[in-house]
Amino acid sequence: MKKLGEKIFYFRACSSTNDLAKEKAEKGEEEGVVFWAEEQLKGRGREGRTWYSAKSKGLYFSIILRPESESVLLLPLLAGICCAEAINELFQLKVELKWPNDILCQNKKLGGILAEASFKGEKLNYLVLGIGLNTNYLLNDFPEEFRAFVTSLKIISGKEFDNRELLKAILNRLNYWYNLFSQRKKKKLFSAFNKYSFFKKEQRIKIKTKETTIEGNYKGIDQTGALVLSIGRKEIKVYSGEVT
Ligand code: BTN
Repeated sequence: MKKLGEKIFYFRACSSTNDLAKEKAEKGEEEGVVFWAEEQLKGRGREGRTWYSAKSKGLYFSIILRPESESVLLLPLLAGICCAEAINELFQLKVELKWPNDILCQNKKLGGILAEASFKGEKLNYLVLGIGLNTNYLLNDFPEEFRAFVTSLKIISGKEFDNRELLKAILNRLNYWYNLFSQRKKKKLFSAFNKYSFFKKEQRIKIKTKETTIEGNYKGIDQTGALVLSIGRKEIKVYSGEVT
């Protein structure tokens, strides 16, 4: 397998690294190519939200993947594990992962993952994984309405962080985990996700899906990456949604 992140396109500013990656993937760009920007003018989050992307205050990058395996829902979880491990290794900070794509530290949002897939008929053509991490933001750098919910590595530790160093560490972890994933060795991945999971087994949670809100006890994630919830005697699987 080719090494991920061997080719990195760097931009001082761009609209959204996910948009750049998707554009190139449509034209046949190979797996593993990374698009990294110092600033995004139209950074996107999940559910059509804006991802605030001020210059050098965060790490913003996207990578093209063309996985053979059908369990693509696992890939945002895998990316979360890579971020948690890299941050832990470099800065000894404990990070938690909130299914499906939030990266939390001290109960506040430190980062997020935006996975966008494109299919050719039934078959996956490519998946773009976009990762945004708040590294050097101070609280005042965020719009006022966000301040109660967000954090950054600098807010937590008082230190300035090198985005390049963090990118390298995440890509390193991505090579390890994506390799296991591609060989369909997923057991370790589930235990790593459980280790970092913000939700603990049997915790009462509420999930807002497009249609409705459901409440139940958190059971974990299944083989495909879906969240498993028990409601009374029934177990249900949720494939996307916002959990509170
Ligand atoms: C979320 O939590 O809603 C996901 C945020 C994902 C943000 C990253 S930053 C790099 C990439 N480019 C984007 O426009 N979005 C993702």
